Amino acid sequence: MTRRLSNTADGPKRSCTLVLAGGAPRSYSPGLRMSTQSPPGFPHRHLLGIEGLSPLDIVALLDRADEAVEISRQVEKKRTTLRGRTQINLFFEPSTRTQSSFELAGKRLGADVMNMSVASSSVKKGETLIDTAATLNAMRPDIIVVRHHQAGAVHLLARKVDCAVVNAGDGAHEHPTQALLDALTIRRNKGRIEGLQVAICGDVLHSRVARSNIILLMALGARVRVIGPSTLLPPGLQRFGVEVFTDMRKGLAGVDIVMMLRLQRERMNGSFVPSVKEYFRYFGLDGDKLSHARADALVMHPGPMNRGVEISSEVADGAQSLIREQVEMGVAVRMAVLEALATHLPNA
Ligand code: CP
Repeated sequence: MTRRLSNTADGPKRSCTLVLAGGAPRSYSPGLRMSTQSPPGFPHRHLLGIEGLSPLDIVALLDRADEAVEISRQVEKKRTTLRGRTQINLFFEPSTRTQSSFELAGKRLGADVMNMSVASSSVKKGETLIDTAATLNAMRPDIIVVRHHQAGAVHLLARKVDCAVVNAGDGAHEHPTQALLDALTIRRNKGRIEGLQVAICGDVLHSRVARSNIILLMALGARVRVIGPSTLLPPGLQRFGVEVFTDMRKGLAGVDIVMMLRLQRERMNGSFVPSVKEYFRYFGLDGDKLSHARADALVMHPGPMNRGVEISSEVADGAQSLIREQVEMGVAVRMAVLEALATHLPNA
């Protein structure tokens, strides 16, 4: 099958053709090329979502990230790609993995990284997102990484500043670097993404991780199922081309990858599940439910995990779990994204 997608995001309009199905899994060899040769072009000034990226853009970022994994595993991890550049991490929502990995990624590429603490900033005195953005823009950063609780806030901010903007999660909309790190983890363990059967399970309704993953996995030729209680599945999911299940055991039958989602109670107005105990009984991943997937199925969770709610400790810490590896891939993917965006910075 040949799939033609057209790029409609912030980059120049173009179309690309990529053979997605048939033939052997795409082979790739991780190496140490990062920043030592001209990398393949990345035609976007910002990374605001997976939507708008072509399959070629995604694969190019994954290839760069493979190289960044090798760099991060060396004693000497420093590169000079972002030397002299300023990166601001602006997080309006709590984060452990995303913020710390963007900080490490920027530092490994040589940037000066500032973590802006929203809790102690003038946002608390009523300053708007736009005024905060204009204030930071006046300090001439090169890259701003933003997490915000409102869908679309990062797109708005990108229109108000002169520098590159990376979406580190906006409301229930997108979390593009999470989907990229998930894809990198899958590709390194299964050797391919195309043709795999991936189940995304749980609170899909409130999940930016699910949305970005569905777009990315479908673009690279995976078959995607979503599984959850009907109260936590958005209407019209089928139009994305996914299969929808409300029974974990049926939905997990024969899948290669089980991707669990956090129950996002901070985004819930009202009661979506009868109780946490009931939720775990029917939708929490334990050894019994996992046994319905393929014997070599792998388990993922973006974190933070609620043990005994979405996933049992037995599975989270078990031999099929990739959860720790996802965290390592997070640093590599963020290095790849920062490096790709750096090619568009002035005097790059
Ligand atoms: N997966 C994820 O976004 O984790 P954090 O909220 O800790 O950044």
